[in-house]
Amino acid sequence: MKRKLLVTNALPYANGPLHLGHMVGYIQADIWVRFQKMLGHDCTYICGSDSHGTPIMIQADKLKITPEELVKNMYNDQVRDFNDFLVAFDNYYSTHSPENQAFVETIFKRHVAKDNIAKRVISQAYDPVKNMFLPDRFIKGECPRCGAKDQYGDNCEVCGATYAPTDLKNPYSVLSGVKPIEKESEHYFFKLDKFNSMLHEWTRAGHLQTEVTNKLDEWFKDGLHDWDISRDAPYFGFKIPGEENKYFYVWLDAPMGYMASFKNLCDKEKKLNFDEYWAKDSKVELYHFIGKDIIYFHALFWPAVLSGADFRTPTAIFANGFLTVDGQKMSKSRGTFIKARTYLNHLNPEYLRYYFAAKLSERIEDLDINFDDFSNRVNSDLVGKFVNIASRCASFLQKNFNNQLSSALSEKKLFEEFSLAGEQIAKKYEDLEFSQAIRQIMLLADKANQYIDEKKPWAAMKDPARHTEVQDVCSMGINLFRLLMIYLKPVLPETAKKVEGFLNISALTWLDKNTPLLNHTLKTFEPLLQRLDKTQIEEMKMSAQGDITESKSTANPFKETISIDDFAKIDLRVAKILQAEYVEGSDKLLRLEVDLGSEKRQIFSGIKAGYEPDKLIGRLTVVVANLAPRKMRFGESQGMVILAVGSESKDLWLLSPDSGAEPGMKVQ
Ligand code: 2FM
Ligand code: ZN
Repeated sequence: MKRKLLVTNALPYANGPLHLGHMVGYIQADIWVRFQKMLGHDCTYICGSDSHGTPIMIQADKLKITPEELVKNMYNDQVRDFNDFLVAFDNYYSTHSPENQAFVETIFKRHVAKDNIAKRVISQAYDPVKNMFLPDRFIKGECPRCGAKDQYGDNCEVCGATYAPTDLKNPYSVLSGVKPIEKESEHYFFKLDKFNSMLHEWTRAGHLQTEVTNKLDEWFKDGLHDWDISRDAPYFGFKIPGEENKYFYVWLDAPMGYMASFKNLCDKEKKLNFDEYWAKDSKVELYHFIGKDIIYFHALFWPAVLSGADFRTPTAIFANGFLTVDGQKMSKSRGTFIKARTYLNHLNPEYLRYYFAAKLSERIEDLDINFDDFSNRVNSDLVGKFVNIASRCASFLQKNFNNQLSSALSEKKLFEEFSLAGEQIAKKYEDLEFSQAIRQIMLLADKANQYIDEKKPWAAMKDPARHTEVQDVCSMGINLFRLLMIYLKPVLPETAKKVEGFLNISALTWLDKNTPLLNHTLKTFEPLLQRLDKTQIEEMKMSAQGDITESKSTANPFKETISIDDFAKIDLRVAKILQAEYVEGSDKLLRLEVDLGSEKRQIFSGIKAGYEPDKLIGRLTVVVANLAPRKMRFGESQGMVILAVGSESKDLWLLSPDSGAEPGMKVQ
């Protein structure tokens, strides 16, 4: 029976670049959607940028652009990254859209009419310099338990304690560095508790993974609390109707972005009917793929918000785990923070799609990418096993049989075995047990290779009487390969396109597994997937070192605030470079001799990648004159040259005072 499905992925925030951690959920959903489409189901796949909230406002401010400009730029980057990772949304839209504004207002009004919204005054942390209320992630201070400095308001990364922002000792705003004050303001609340029995039932009705249901039980025990859905200006979001300075909280309108993206698609593709998908009695299956950190929003708030506003609720929510890199949390300092774009600059997206597929299950487990394992799997499974079948057989068929396949299968049983296995593999895909699907597919690939090994077409080719046998064996091999390509097509859509070209056939569907390809002329075989060279991974890791870590919710680019007295301790001086030379044995340093007016100094500076020594002699620059001397392998360094630095090691620039400055002058 033909099913109708609407599939969504969590909408990524528009305040930072996509990284490999994001890609787990998108690749997972994309594989599932492609599988559904191959089965012939009517499956629509949508997503978009989550474009509102304080971090976006702050990030735009930092970049000196408007939030609208920031979200537009990020939208374009996201579209490019998803395309290049072969994540094929039917529509990619934004929560900062007229459709979304209409939904949030309609839904809000419906809840107001049902008395599901309360209004009351609350007191919150406020930054008196920036004149804004501070979300928890924008307050830091000392851990109330162990005293560690610079901890966020919710938990301590040093001792693991959890607490409220008000418990922090010596709290400060990460925006201005000043101590937050308490300030009152009236907020709107969604009365979640009114949905207690509805949610109790819904969360146990098979819409959620078992682990999620168990987690929800804990939340139910805690009680369902009112949810604060408003924020005070300044805020980047939609204004609450009838209010001047209050906005809807980003998490209220974010999931409505699913509806907005779909509505936007309906307006472009007239055959889709919005109400058929979202009305209370909709028969369409609705699936949300999300990360495990946003379960609360999707499994409690969202069904309540939808049902209270007379819309349908989701059919199921699939949560995935986080990505670790070489067993570690992604982190810039360890060089394990990898932007999607950095990966794409160096490696084939299908390698990662395959690797994730080979490790994903229906459970909410974290997934580790270990790069040795990654290259082994790509090389041994994809290149060594899968592609190998085609390249072995294609060369015989091309050289000796004009690319012509036999007119009958010589091993019908073997073909049937492969074809039948497709039923189980389909079940694994359907159940999101991708790793099991891949395992079965690779067992079949082993079998196909064994078959060719046993038949030894290279030996038979030597005997003219056995030539037909060679054509039959290779035709068999190509047919087995074709079935494997069908099974891998959700994971490797680009390779599938190439294979369809080589096989000289139209786009493969799942049903094609039942019929062999016979009496048919192939096109010339072209290499399908390259072996992965370890140096590609090394190069990718090197570039990743330059990737900028933007944490998910806040992105304060600056170090902790210092007082004017702290700053006054730094003695900056204009210096004239008298001598500059290479340092034997160092690939980074130059040895400089500088004139500070009253004295000369020797400074070792890491500017070799950016400057030739000769070009430096005679120019003025700025140095820290009172840095304690440091003994280095090459001699003593008696100060430090100030540099502007970019993300690549060669991106560095000396500062230059305007003309007229003299060696020794104070810089302040
Ligand atoms: O956690 C996040 O990255 C959110 N931007 C996800 C939003 S999903 C949906 F609700 F829009
Ligand atoms: Zn602590």
